[in-house]
Amino acid sequence: MKGIVLAGGTGSRLFPLTKITNKHLLPIYDRPMIYYPIQTLVDAGIRDILIVTGGRNSGDFLRLLGNGKHFGLAHINYTYQEGEGGIADALALAEHFADNQKICVVLGDNIIERDIREAADRFHNQPYGAHILLKRVPDAERFGVAEVAGDCVIGIEEKPTIPKSNYAVTGIYMYDSTVFEKIKVLVPSGRGELEITDVNNAYIREGTMTFSFLEGWWTDAGTFDSLLRASNLVAQSAARTQPAPLPDKLSRGEGATA
Ligand code: DAU
Repeated sequence: MKGIVLAGGTGSRLFPLTKITNKHLLPIYDRPMIYYPIQTLVDAGIRDILIVTGGRNSGDFLRLLGNGKHFGLAHINYTYQEGEGGIADALALAEHFADNQKICVVLGDNIIERDIREAADRFHNQPYGAHILLKRVPDAERFGVAEVAGDCVIGIEEKPTIPKSNYAVTGIYMYDSTVFEKIKVLVPSGRGELEITDVNNAYIREGTMTFSFLEGWWTDAGTFDSLLRASNLVAQSAARTQPAPLPDKLSRGEGATA
């Protein structure tokens, strides 16, 4: 499976932070935002990765990431989205890269605590269709919201005023190669974008959409509040996984036995 990180758009909700740089280059605790979705793909065993950039600072992605040595990659692919025609518009640029293979798409501002290896393995064994990851949230109206009946997602609404569930559709999507045909027949939504929710609903109508629940915390980072929350969550996780500091005496070598 190939991996795609979508890091286009203008990040207008974070203005003026995004006046002179791209949203995905802003810091989340100790790393630039874009590091996290790339790491999500790498942790799922994906090595062939495309970054869709955009805006005036796209060259900075290359300066920051190079060929992906930091992630143990030999190479990273880049492409450029003109304007901000929506998530599905950005994904359309990956058709040539995907080359009829299955893809795993991660939104550039989505950060997760754990990994998606189990879902990726499951989708690997799914002959066709799509797979999404859901997360129960207290503020579903901010997201695409999935209506679930038993084992099936029966519909997704984008930022509904009255959500039918509290299951947010996270920005991690797995698709077969028909995704690009589905994007070609989309029409722009009320906000003038090609919506990823319309792509997902096309798979649901076809009866080929599966889902799983994401383990661990998940957040986006596209607003001031979620940007702060993302940093705090990453910092708390780092504090939990780092070994407790040695007592002062031991760290000075006193009291150590041979
Ligand atoms: O975070 C998950 C949510 O992401 C989903 O629940 C929603 O269904 C989905 O529509 C999306 O909602 P947002 O309104 O939060 O998406 P946003 O416009 O903030 O874009 C998220 C990322 O997608 C952004 O960091 C970069 C990429 N993107 C977005 C647009 C509009 C692009 O690459 N190009 C674009 O034109």
